Amino acid sequence: MPCVAGVTVSRRWRLEIQDEAELEADGTRLGLALDALVENAVEHTAEPDMIELGARRVGNRVAITVRDTGPGIPPEQQERIFERFARGSPGRRGAGLGLAIVKAIVEAHRGQVRIASGPGRGSTFEILLPLAPRRDGPPPPAGEPQPSRRGSR
Ligand SMILES: Nc1ncnc2c1ncn2[C@@H]1O[C@H](COP(=O)(O)OP(=O)(O)OP(=O)(O)O)[C@@H](O)[C@H]1O
Ligand SMILES: [Mg+2]
Repeated sequence: MPCVAGVTVSRRWRLEIQDEAELEADGTRLGLALDALVENAVEHTAEPDMIELGARRVGNRVAITVRDTGPGIPPEQQERIFERFARGSPGRRGAGLGLAIVKAIVEAHRGQVRIASGPGRGSTFEILLPLAPRRDGPPPPAGEPQPSRRGSR
């Protein structure tokens, strides 16, 4: 049973890894972003809701998703919740920083965060990140000038 912030959480958890892919990423920061999304999913669900983590390739990007079967987020709130200190309902715990941090981390990786949600539909947060450049490409043709670290005078 997963443990979030020291509290044991009973939800139906699913892991849906469709593709494996290589990313150039800061694992610690990306982990923080995923933690923030999972924390939100836990905060807005109750037993027996489901929380699903997924990964798949979408063209030349990887989509990492955190989906929950909670109450969903009304369309008019969806833009605003990525702003710092924005919270859906003021009575709730939390500073309203989690999603602003997710957005900053993802954009620092040249990625994008998307949301698909609506009242009664649950919420899916999707992080899109570019694939790492391929390392098995052909070597540069012989005789072609190689980049030099020295400047020309
Ligand atoms: N999975 C979700 N389901 C429903 N509402 C959500 C979900 N994730 C985020 N929200 C809404 O977006 C708001 C902003 O989320 P964010 O993570 O930025 O802040 P927070 O969770 O309120 O506080 P903090 O993350 O700083 O503890 C939340 O207050 C909530 O209203
Ligand atoms: Mg949060």
